[in-house]
Order: sequence, then structure tokens, then C-alpha cells
Amino acid sequence: MSAGDKITSVLVESRVFPPPPAFAAQARVGSLAAYEALCARAAAEPERFWAEIASELAWSQPWREVLDWELPDARWFVGARTNVSVNCLDRHLDGPRRNKAALLFEGEPGDTRVLTYHQLHREVCKAANALDALGIRAGDFVAIYLPMIPEAVIAMLACARLGAPHTVVFGGFSAEALADRIKDSRARLVITADGGWRRGQIVPLKDNVDKALDDPEVDVDHVVVVRRAGGESSWKPGRDHWWHETVDRASPRHQAVGHDAEHPLFSLYTSGTTGKPKGILHTTGGYQVGAYYTTRMVFDLRDDDVFWCTADVGWVTGHSYVVYGPLMNGATVVMYEGAPNQPGPDRFWDICARWGVTVFYTAPTAIRAFMRWGDEHPARHDLSALRLLGSVGEPINPEAWMWYRRVIGGDRCPIVDTWWQTETGSIMISPLPGATPTKPGSATRPLPGIAADVVRRDGTPCGPNEGGFLVIRRPWPSMLRTIWGDHERFTRTYFGDIPGCYFAGDGARKDADGYIWVMGRVDDVINVAGHRLSTMEVESALVSHPKVAEAAVVGRPDELKGQAIVAFVTPKGGIQPDDALAAELRQHVVEQIGALARPEELRFADALPKTRSGKIMRRLLREVASGSTARGDTTTLEDNAVLERLAASYQQED
Ligand code: WTA
Repeated sequence: MSAGDKITSVLVESRVFPPPPAFAAQARVGSLAAYEALCARAAAEPERFWAEIASELAWSQPWREVLDWELPDARWFVGARTNVSVNCLDRHLDGPRRNKAALLFEGEPGDTRVLTYHQLHREVCKAANALDALGIRAGDFVAIYLPMIPEAVIAMLACARLGAPHTVVFGGFSAEALADRIKDSRARLVITADGGWRRGQIVPLKDNVDKALDDPEVDVDHVVVVRRAGGESSWKPGRDHWWHETVDRASPRHQAVGHDAEHPLFSLYTSGTTGKPKGILHTTGGYQVGAYYTTRMVFDLRDDDVFWCTADVGWVTGHSYVVYGPLMNGATVVMYEGAPNQPGPDRFWDICARWGVTVFYTAPTAIRAFMRWGDEHPARHDLSALRLLGSVGEPINPEAWMWYRRVIGGDRCPIVDTWWQTETGSIMISPLPGATPTKPGSATRPLPGIAADVVRRDGTPCGPNEGGFLVIRRPWPSMLRTIWGDHERFTRTYFGDIPGCYFAGDGARKDADGYIWVMGRVDDVINVAGHRLSTMEVESALVSHPKVAEAAVVGRPDELKGQAIVAFVTPKGGIQPDDALAAELRQHVVEQIGALARPEELRFADALPKTRSGKIMRRLLREVASGSTARGDTTTLEDNAVLERLAASYQQED
């Protein structure tokens, strides 16, 4: 980055964009004063605040107590019973939403399918009956490994209906990664497809399931297979069942029962700082309140909106903002199966124009790719229906923010930069589009009811613009309840570092206006194209190769992906490092984890720098890795330096 670039980004950062008056006039929260009044009310009486929101949903039995809390454990809506699938579907069937489109689906090859709330409800009931017939009961885990097709939504809602927690595994994960997740969750049934479309190719999902199930430690009774790609798949009679035979034959009537508010709804694996991904567990009552509330507030949804969140259901964003949040709000959701540049770089804008998308939510990595592909692609399409834009998953650099606003939003749409995590279940820090003036690159202020702050290591609040740790001081309904099977790791990871607070690994600063600027992770988690990976997970994959003695993995700034993976590898004695070996090792990581973890760069080293106690000095390697290429523009130089200092202070006590 040249000095000139840096000056631009500092200038851009000081700009403030108030909500457009026309937007504010019709918004649910239409002024900063109204936002602040909500915050004050939520802070004064948090339980009453959340109870009021929860009362807008259906409960088959009321709660005895809103919150029962002793750090690190919190139980919400104690004693209540509810069904998330009923809140997403049945609740809308008695009114005008009955025949409204719930899902507008478009496959990568161009096929489309529309499901109204009535139709989606029928499909979910059939799937619930089919799963029930295969022996799935409340409490049994079901693994879902599907492309972005309506059956993914149907399967999730059918599981929720039965109280069978789902574990959705992103279709880009390898057979090995899938097997690990099935084993850890102890899923008894897998729902998959014969394939899905990605960049004109078929992703062989069923083959990966077969491979995962070859693992003798994987104990799965049934595999339900959606026919999507139409190719040949191997078949194990008795174990494998076609969706179109089992589900389509099932009855479309299903009487849902309420599940305990603290009954597990889903687990979702995410990377922590060790080699083993952790199953983040969310429960029924609290999660539904968080997803419902944040979708309504942040996206200011109205009944005529067409909402498109481009995330895959394999990530938490897909859970909360493709499925649960929008459907609980009775929204119309766009769902697209494939790549943003298939067949051409304007596919997303073509979809926005044809379906009349009004609210569009995507990741900074995608925005930076669109910027690079050129303004002519969005310019070819009518994007005038858009009224609100969102960003999620990684810090958005001011340049990308400004481009998003101008080229996609026509200088008229507010942008909500939303900070949250798999662990938080729903958005924590974000502008309210009709109320909060925005600053490019800042997620702005916490939502009403969310006690987020930036603090020093001892828990005391940081001064204005002082870099510190991003924490949440009070429980919120959609917080994770545990790491599946490892409550001690849960306590240590999130509540062990900063006294009395939830801390999940980000460095941030708060400016003089109280705006939060998230800088990035201070632990050994890297964020590649908005996907979380642990450096140790990639290292474990590398050292599992017979020719590798030792490996160290770090992230370096990348202009497009935010961070890119650089691996340093020491081969075993007698092994000649060469390009062929580098290619073999990169491919090995793809097989162990998936293409998202493929090292961008792999360097051989005779030895790795270590501390006297034998810890790899990643900080040093990060400097080496970053020095080799032009600096990315994703954060300003000062932010990077602050982040490095925070990371050092965070890690020294480990
Ligand atoms: C990062 C994705 C800056 C952050 C919803 C967090 C962000 C991690 C933002 C969680 C944002 C997410 N600005 N950083 N708006 N949103 N992050 O679990 O480092 O996949 O800790 O959840 O992404 O990633 P996860």
C-alpha cells in the first residue's frame, strides 16, 4: 500500500452517512434518539425487553423465568416450550402470508422453483414424517450435507420440527472433514444430494458421504439422498434412500409439539485455536428470539421485501439469515445455488434484477471481487428495487464499502455492516438502517439489548480509539450454550480470558462517538474469504502427510480474501522439497479439510523459529509472510500494528 492509498482510506473513514430521510421516514426505528431510547430501556430492564420480543412468537407453554444466569451458563425462557418450525411456518398460515412466496430458488444451471409458505409447510411436514419413519426422535442429531437447494431449508426445518438437532456441514468440506463432524455430533442420519452445481461442475456430495461412512468409527443408519445433479451414484440398499421416494410419499400433515426452550436446535462446527473444530451448540427458545429480532431490526423487513442473503446454509449466516430469521418474519427469501460468476460476472445482479431483490446481504470478499470484475456488470442490470445493503463475516475496508454504496446501492441504500459470530447466533453490532449514521468500515454500535464493549485485558473499558478486546458483558438469548461434548473448553475459551465477560477473539477500538471498529482476530484463527480457519487445523492436516516433519501456518493480508494462508513446511529427513511436493501438500490439505483451506503459498524451511519452550513463533512468520507481497488494503497500517500488539498481549499468557 502506498502512502497515497493510506491517506485516502483515512479520509474515507472520517465520512459519516446519515440514514436517507426517505428510508428513515418509513423505518421501524427512524431516529438515533429512538435507537438510544431502546438501548436505555433494554439496559434498564433487560429481561422485560427480551420477554416482549419473545411474546411476538408462538410458545406452546409460557416461561417461568426469562433468564437464569450464572457465568458462564445462561438459560433463557426457562420452562417454556416452543417449536421453531411452527414459528417459521405454521404461524403464517392463518393470514395473508399463507400464499406469499417464502422461497425463490434459482439453481446454477438456471432452473427455478418458488415455494409459498403453504407449500413450504407441506414439504417440511412430509420431511418430518419421513425422518420420523426412519426412526429419528427428539434429541437425535442429523447431519445435513447439501447444496443450496430448497431441500436444505426443508431438511433444517423438518429437524427443528422434530426436535432433532441438525449439524449442517458446508458442501465445500471434504469427506474427512464431514466424517469428523458426523463422529463428533454422533449423527445417526445424513441428508445429502447426488451432487450440486458449482461453476458448471458437479460437486460429488454423495461420493463424499460414502467415503466418510467408510470410516469404521462413523455409525450412521440412514442416508437420504436428494436427486439434484442426475449423475450416477453408488447405492447401499437399506442404508440409502432417495428423498423423492421417502419424503414425497410421506403425509403432508404433521402436528408439531413444543420443545423445551433449552432443547438443542443445532450444532455448527467452527474453527477455534486448536486443530479440532468445535461444535457450537444453540438451543431452541433463545436462538429463535435472537434470529427473529435481529432480522427485523437490522434489515427493517417489510412484507413486500425480497430478501437475499448470499451465504451458504453451511455457515451460521445461512442458518440465521437465509432460514430462521427471515422465515420467522414471514419474508420472501431468495436462494441461489451456485457461483457468483457463473456463467458470467454479473450473475448476482441478474438475479437481483429478475427477482426484484430489495435487501441484499453479502460478504466483503465478494464485494471486493465484484469491484475487481468491473462496474460494467452491475451497470447492465436494473438494481433500482434495492433499498438496503448488508455486509458480514470480516472487516470491510472503506474502499469496498464506498464502492458497494455507490455502484450497487446507487448512493441511495444504507449499508449495515454487521458484526457477529457462529457463537453469538445472531447479529450483535450493527447500524439500524433508519437510525444510525454510518461510517465506512465500522459496524457502528451494539443492537439494543447487547452489552458489547471494548476493554483491556483486565476488563476495564478502553479509552476512545484505544485498541482492546471486544467483549459482551451480559448474556443474550441467542448465545451459544456450550461446545458440544466439551463444556470445559467452552468455559475456558469464551469466559477464561477477560474477567466477567464473554470474549470470542476479536480486537477492536471504540471511537469518540462510541462506534466500534473491529480489527480482526487476536487468536490463531484466520479469516479467509469470510471463512474461519484455525492455523492449527491446517498445520494438523499438513503434518498428517507422511513426508512432513513440521508445519506452521499463518495468515497474511490479502487484497481480495482479507487473509490468505501461508504455510511453512519442514520435510522429513531425506525428502527433497520441490514444486511437485508443494503441489502434493496443498492438495493434501484440500483432501483433509476442503478447498477453502488450500494454502495460497507453501514455503519449505529447514527449521521453524521457536521460543525456548518450543512454541512456534507465528508472529515472526506472519511478518515474513506479509513482507513477501504487497500489503493488502483491508486494514489500515495502524490497525494492523495495534492488532499485532493485542495479539502479542493476548497470547503471552497462554
Ligand atoms: C469476523 C460469521 C469485522 C470476526 C457471522 C468474528 C467480522 C468472525 C464481521 C466470526 C464484521 C464477522 N466486521 N469482522 N462485520 N463479521 N467478523 O463465526 O473476526 O464465521 O469473530 O461468523 O468473523 O466468524 P463466523
